[in-house]
Amino acid sequence: QTFEHGDGSASKGDYRHFMLKEIHEQPAVIAETLEGRLGDRSVLVESFGPDAEALFSRVAQIHLVACGTSYHAGLVARYWLERYAGIPVQVEVASEYRYRRVVVPENTLFVTLSQSGETADTLAALRFSKDGGYLGSLAICNVPGSSLARESDLTLMTRAGPEIGVASTKAFTTQLTALMLLTLAMGRVHGQDEAEQASLVDALRKLPAQVERVLALDAQIEELSTAFAEKHHALFLGRGAHFPVALEGALKLKEISYIHAEAYPAGELKHGPLALVDSDMPVVSVAPNDELLDKLKSNLQEVRARGGELFVFADEGVGLSSDDGIRVLHLPPIEEALAPILYTLPLQLLSYHVAVLKGTDVDQPRNLAKSVTVE
Ligand code: AGP
Repeated sequence: QTFEHGDGSASKGDYRHFMLKEIHEQPAVIAETLEGRLGDRSVLVESFGPDAEALFSRVAQIHLVACGTSYHAGLVARYWLERYAGIPVQVEVASEYRYRRVVVPENTLFVTLSQSGETADTLAALRFSKDGGYLGSLAICNVPGSSLARESDLTLMTRAGPEIGVASTKAFTTQLTALMLLTLAMGRVHGQDEAEQASLVDALRKLPAQVERVLALDAQIEELSTAFAEKHHALFLGRGAHFPVALEGALKLKEISYIHAEAYPAGELKHGPLALVDSDMPVVSVAPNDELLDKLKSNLQEVRARGGELFVFADEGVGLSSDDGIRVLHLPPIEEALAPILYTLPLQLLSYHVAVLKGTDVDQPRNLAKSVTVE
């Protein structure tokens, strides 16, 4: 199935907002990110540059630094790089990293993630890292010729096209796609099982069509959004690689609808946040069908028992269905590794529709700039 390429033009076309247009460009631009970077059964390591293979084979650990949504993408990548490439990863926000007495173990690769490639703290972190004794630096960003791209040893462009909406959407999912390519490249040079690599490559090829299918749930998600419009707080829950997805969902809601939202690892509920839960605090949870599901189900039971209203985005195979106090929206089955990309989509659409209901400036939310080039 081919997708018309995201035209990346600076017009909204027939979309009401740039953010909605960019959400719907995701099948096309994820396909763009993958274009020419996959072999039949493995990633093409040279996609990262002619010296990438030699450099990557020496990598013993990774420090990954970014801000905001890009930081959330890094948090997802940590689960992938550790599980599929056996590489330990530290992920940190740039504004913290650059002022810390960082200890850099031998053979550590420095990776930055940035849509704009001009974020002041991320750029300062890269410059700070140059004296750290790193093996080298890789920038994954969306703007060719940006400072971050020019000042890093290696770059991988996300090819999402211009992202106009201040709230990052297609930049995030193409960053995740690029980070899965990095995971496969690291896996390839560090002895990942060939069959596992081949099945992940196959899953990536199917990803744009699955993204398309999930975006087709838009009307159901718009209907859900009415339950949030009058609320003042929301809690997002996720486990494992979906905890960063919950963080991203909370950031999207707060930055465009101005509703206070925070994310927690679902297993942390009992350690405090459960005290917040009542009928005025909607709880959103991403529940893919993975090994943590049974634990997540018991966490969700805790919320319901306290009158919390639950909204669960779940794999259609997990046996969760809507009931009083719980609204379940089913997503199609997906290769577990790529579920974080897919489960972000309903959270993007949810925050978009809530913001539209609240009448905020969806594309230019108050107090925010698209690229934070000043500290
Ligand atoms: C995300 O929706 C925000 N717009 C913001 O957090 C953004 O991700 C952050 O400022 C980092 O920007 P960058 O990716 O261009 O470095």
